[in-house]
Amino acid sequence: MLELKPQVLEFPIVNDERGKLSVVEGLKHIPFDIKRIYYLYDLPGGALRGSHAHKELEQIIISISGSFDVTLDDGESQNTFSLNRAYLGLYVPKMHWRTLSNFSSGSVCLVLASEEYLEDDYIRDYDAFLKKVKGQG
Ligand code: TYD
Repeated sequence: MLELKPQVLEFPIVNDERGKLSVVEGLKHIPFDIKRIYYLYDLPGGALRGSHAHKELEQIIISISGSFDVTLDDGESQNTFSLNRAYLGLYVPKMHWRTLSNFSSGSVCLVLASEEYLEDDYIRDYDAFLKKVKGQG
């Protein structure tokens, strides 16, 4: 399927006079099966989310409504993706430090995840993340 690097994926849009519908199927439109979804909403102005990496978890981040930025850091370089369309999803591979910011008022962030919630999969310390990326952790 697709190369497992950060990238914005475009999902199918079914459009008629009643509006638009987009669809995401695990292992078809994205490179993993979906085990969990969660969403961020009612975000106060200036909110920062994320600021962690995952050892194994892969995710798709979708701006279902409004807009926000996602900065991804693989330990060597950083890339910021601006999400503002409900038919676009950012693929976040494992071992990428992510920070979500600049949420517009009323924005909703939907996350599709490859695994169930597991606190042990989180790396919440940036120095520990860098060490692990460099094979020292
Ligand atoms: P966290 O992943 O740190 O939030 P974010 O990356 O959006 O800033 O999670 C925040 C809290 O919510 C943390 O205490 C764990 C809890 N949580 C769950 O219980 N289940 C979940 O699926 C997620 C994503 C978080």
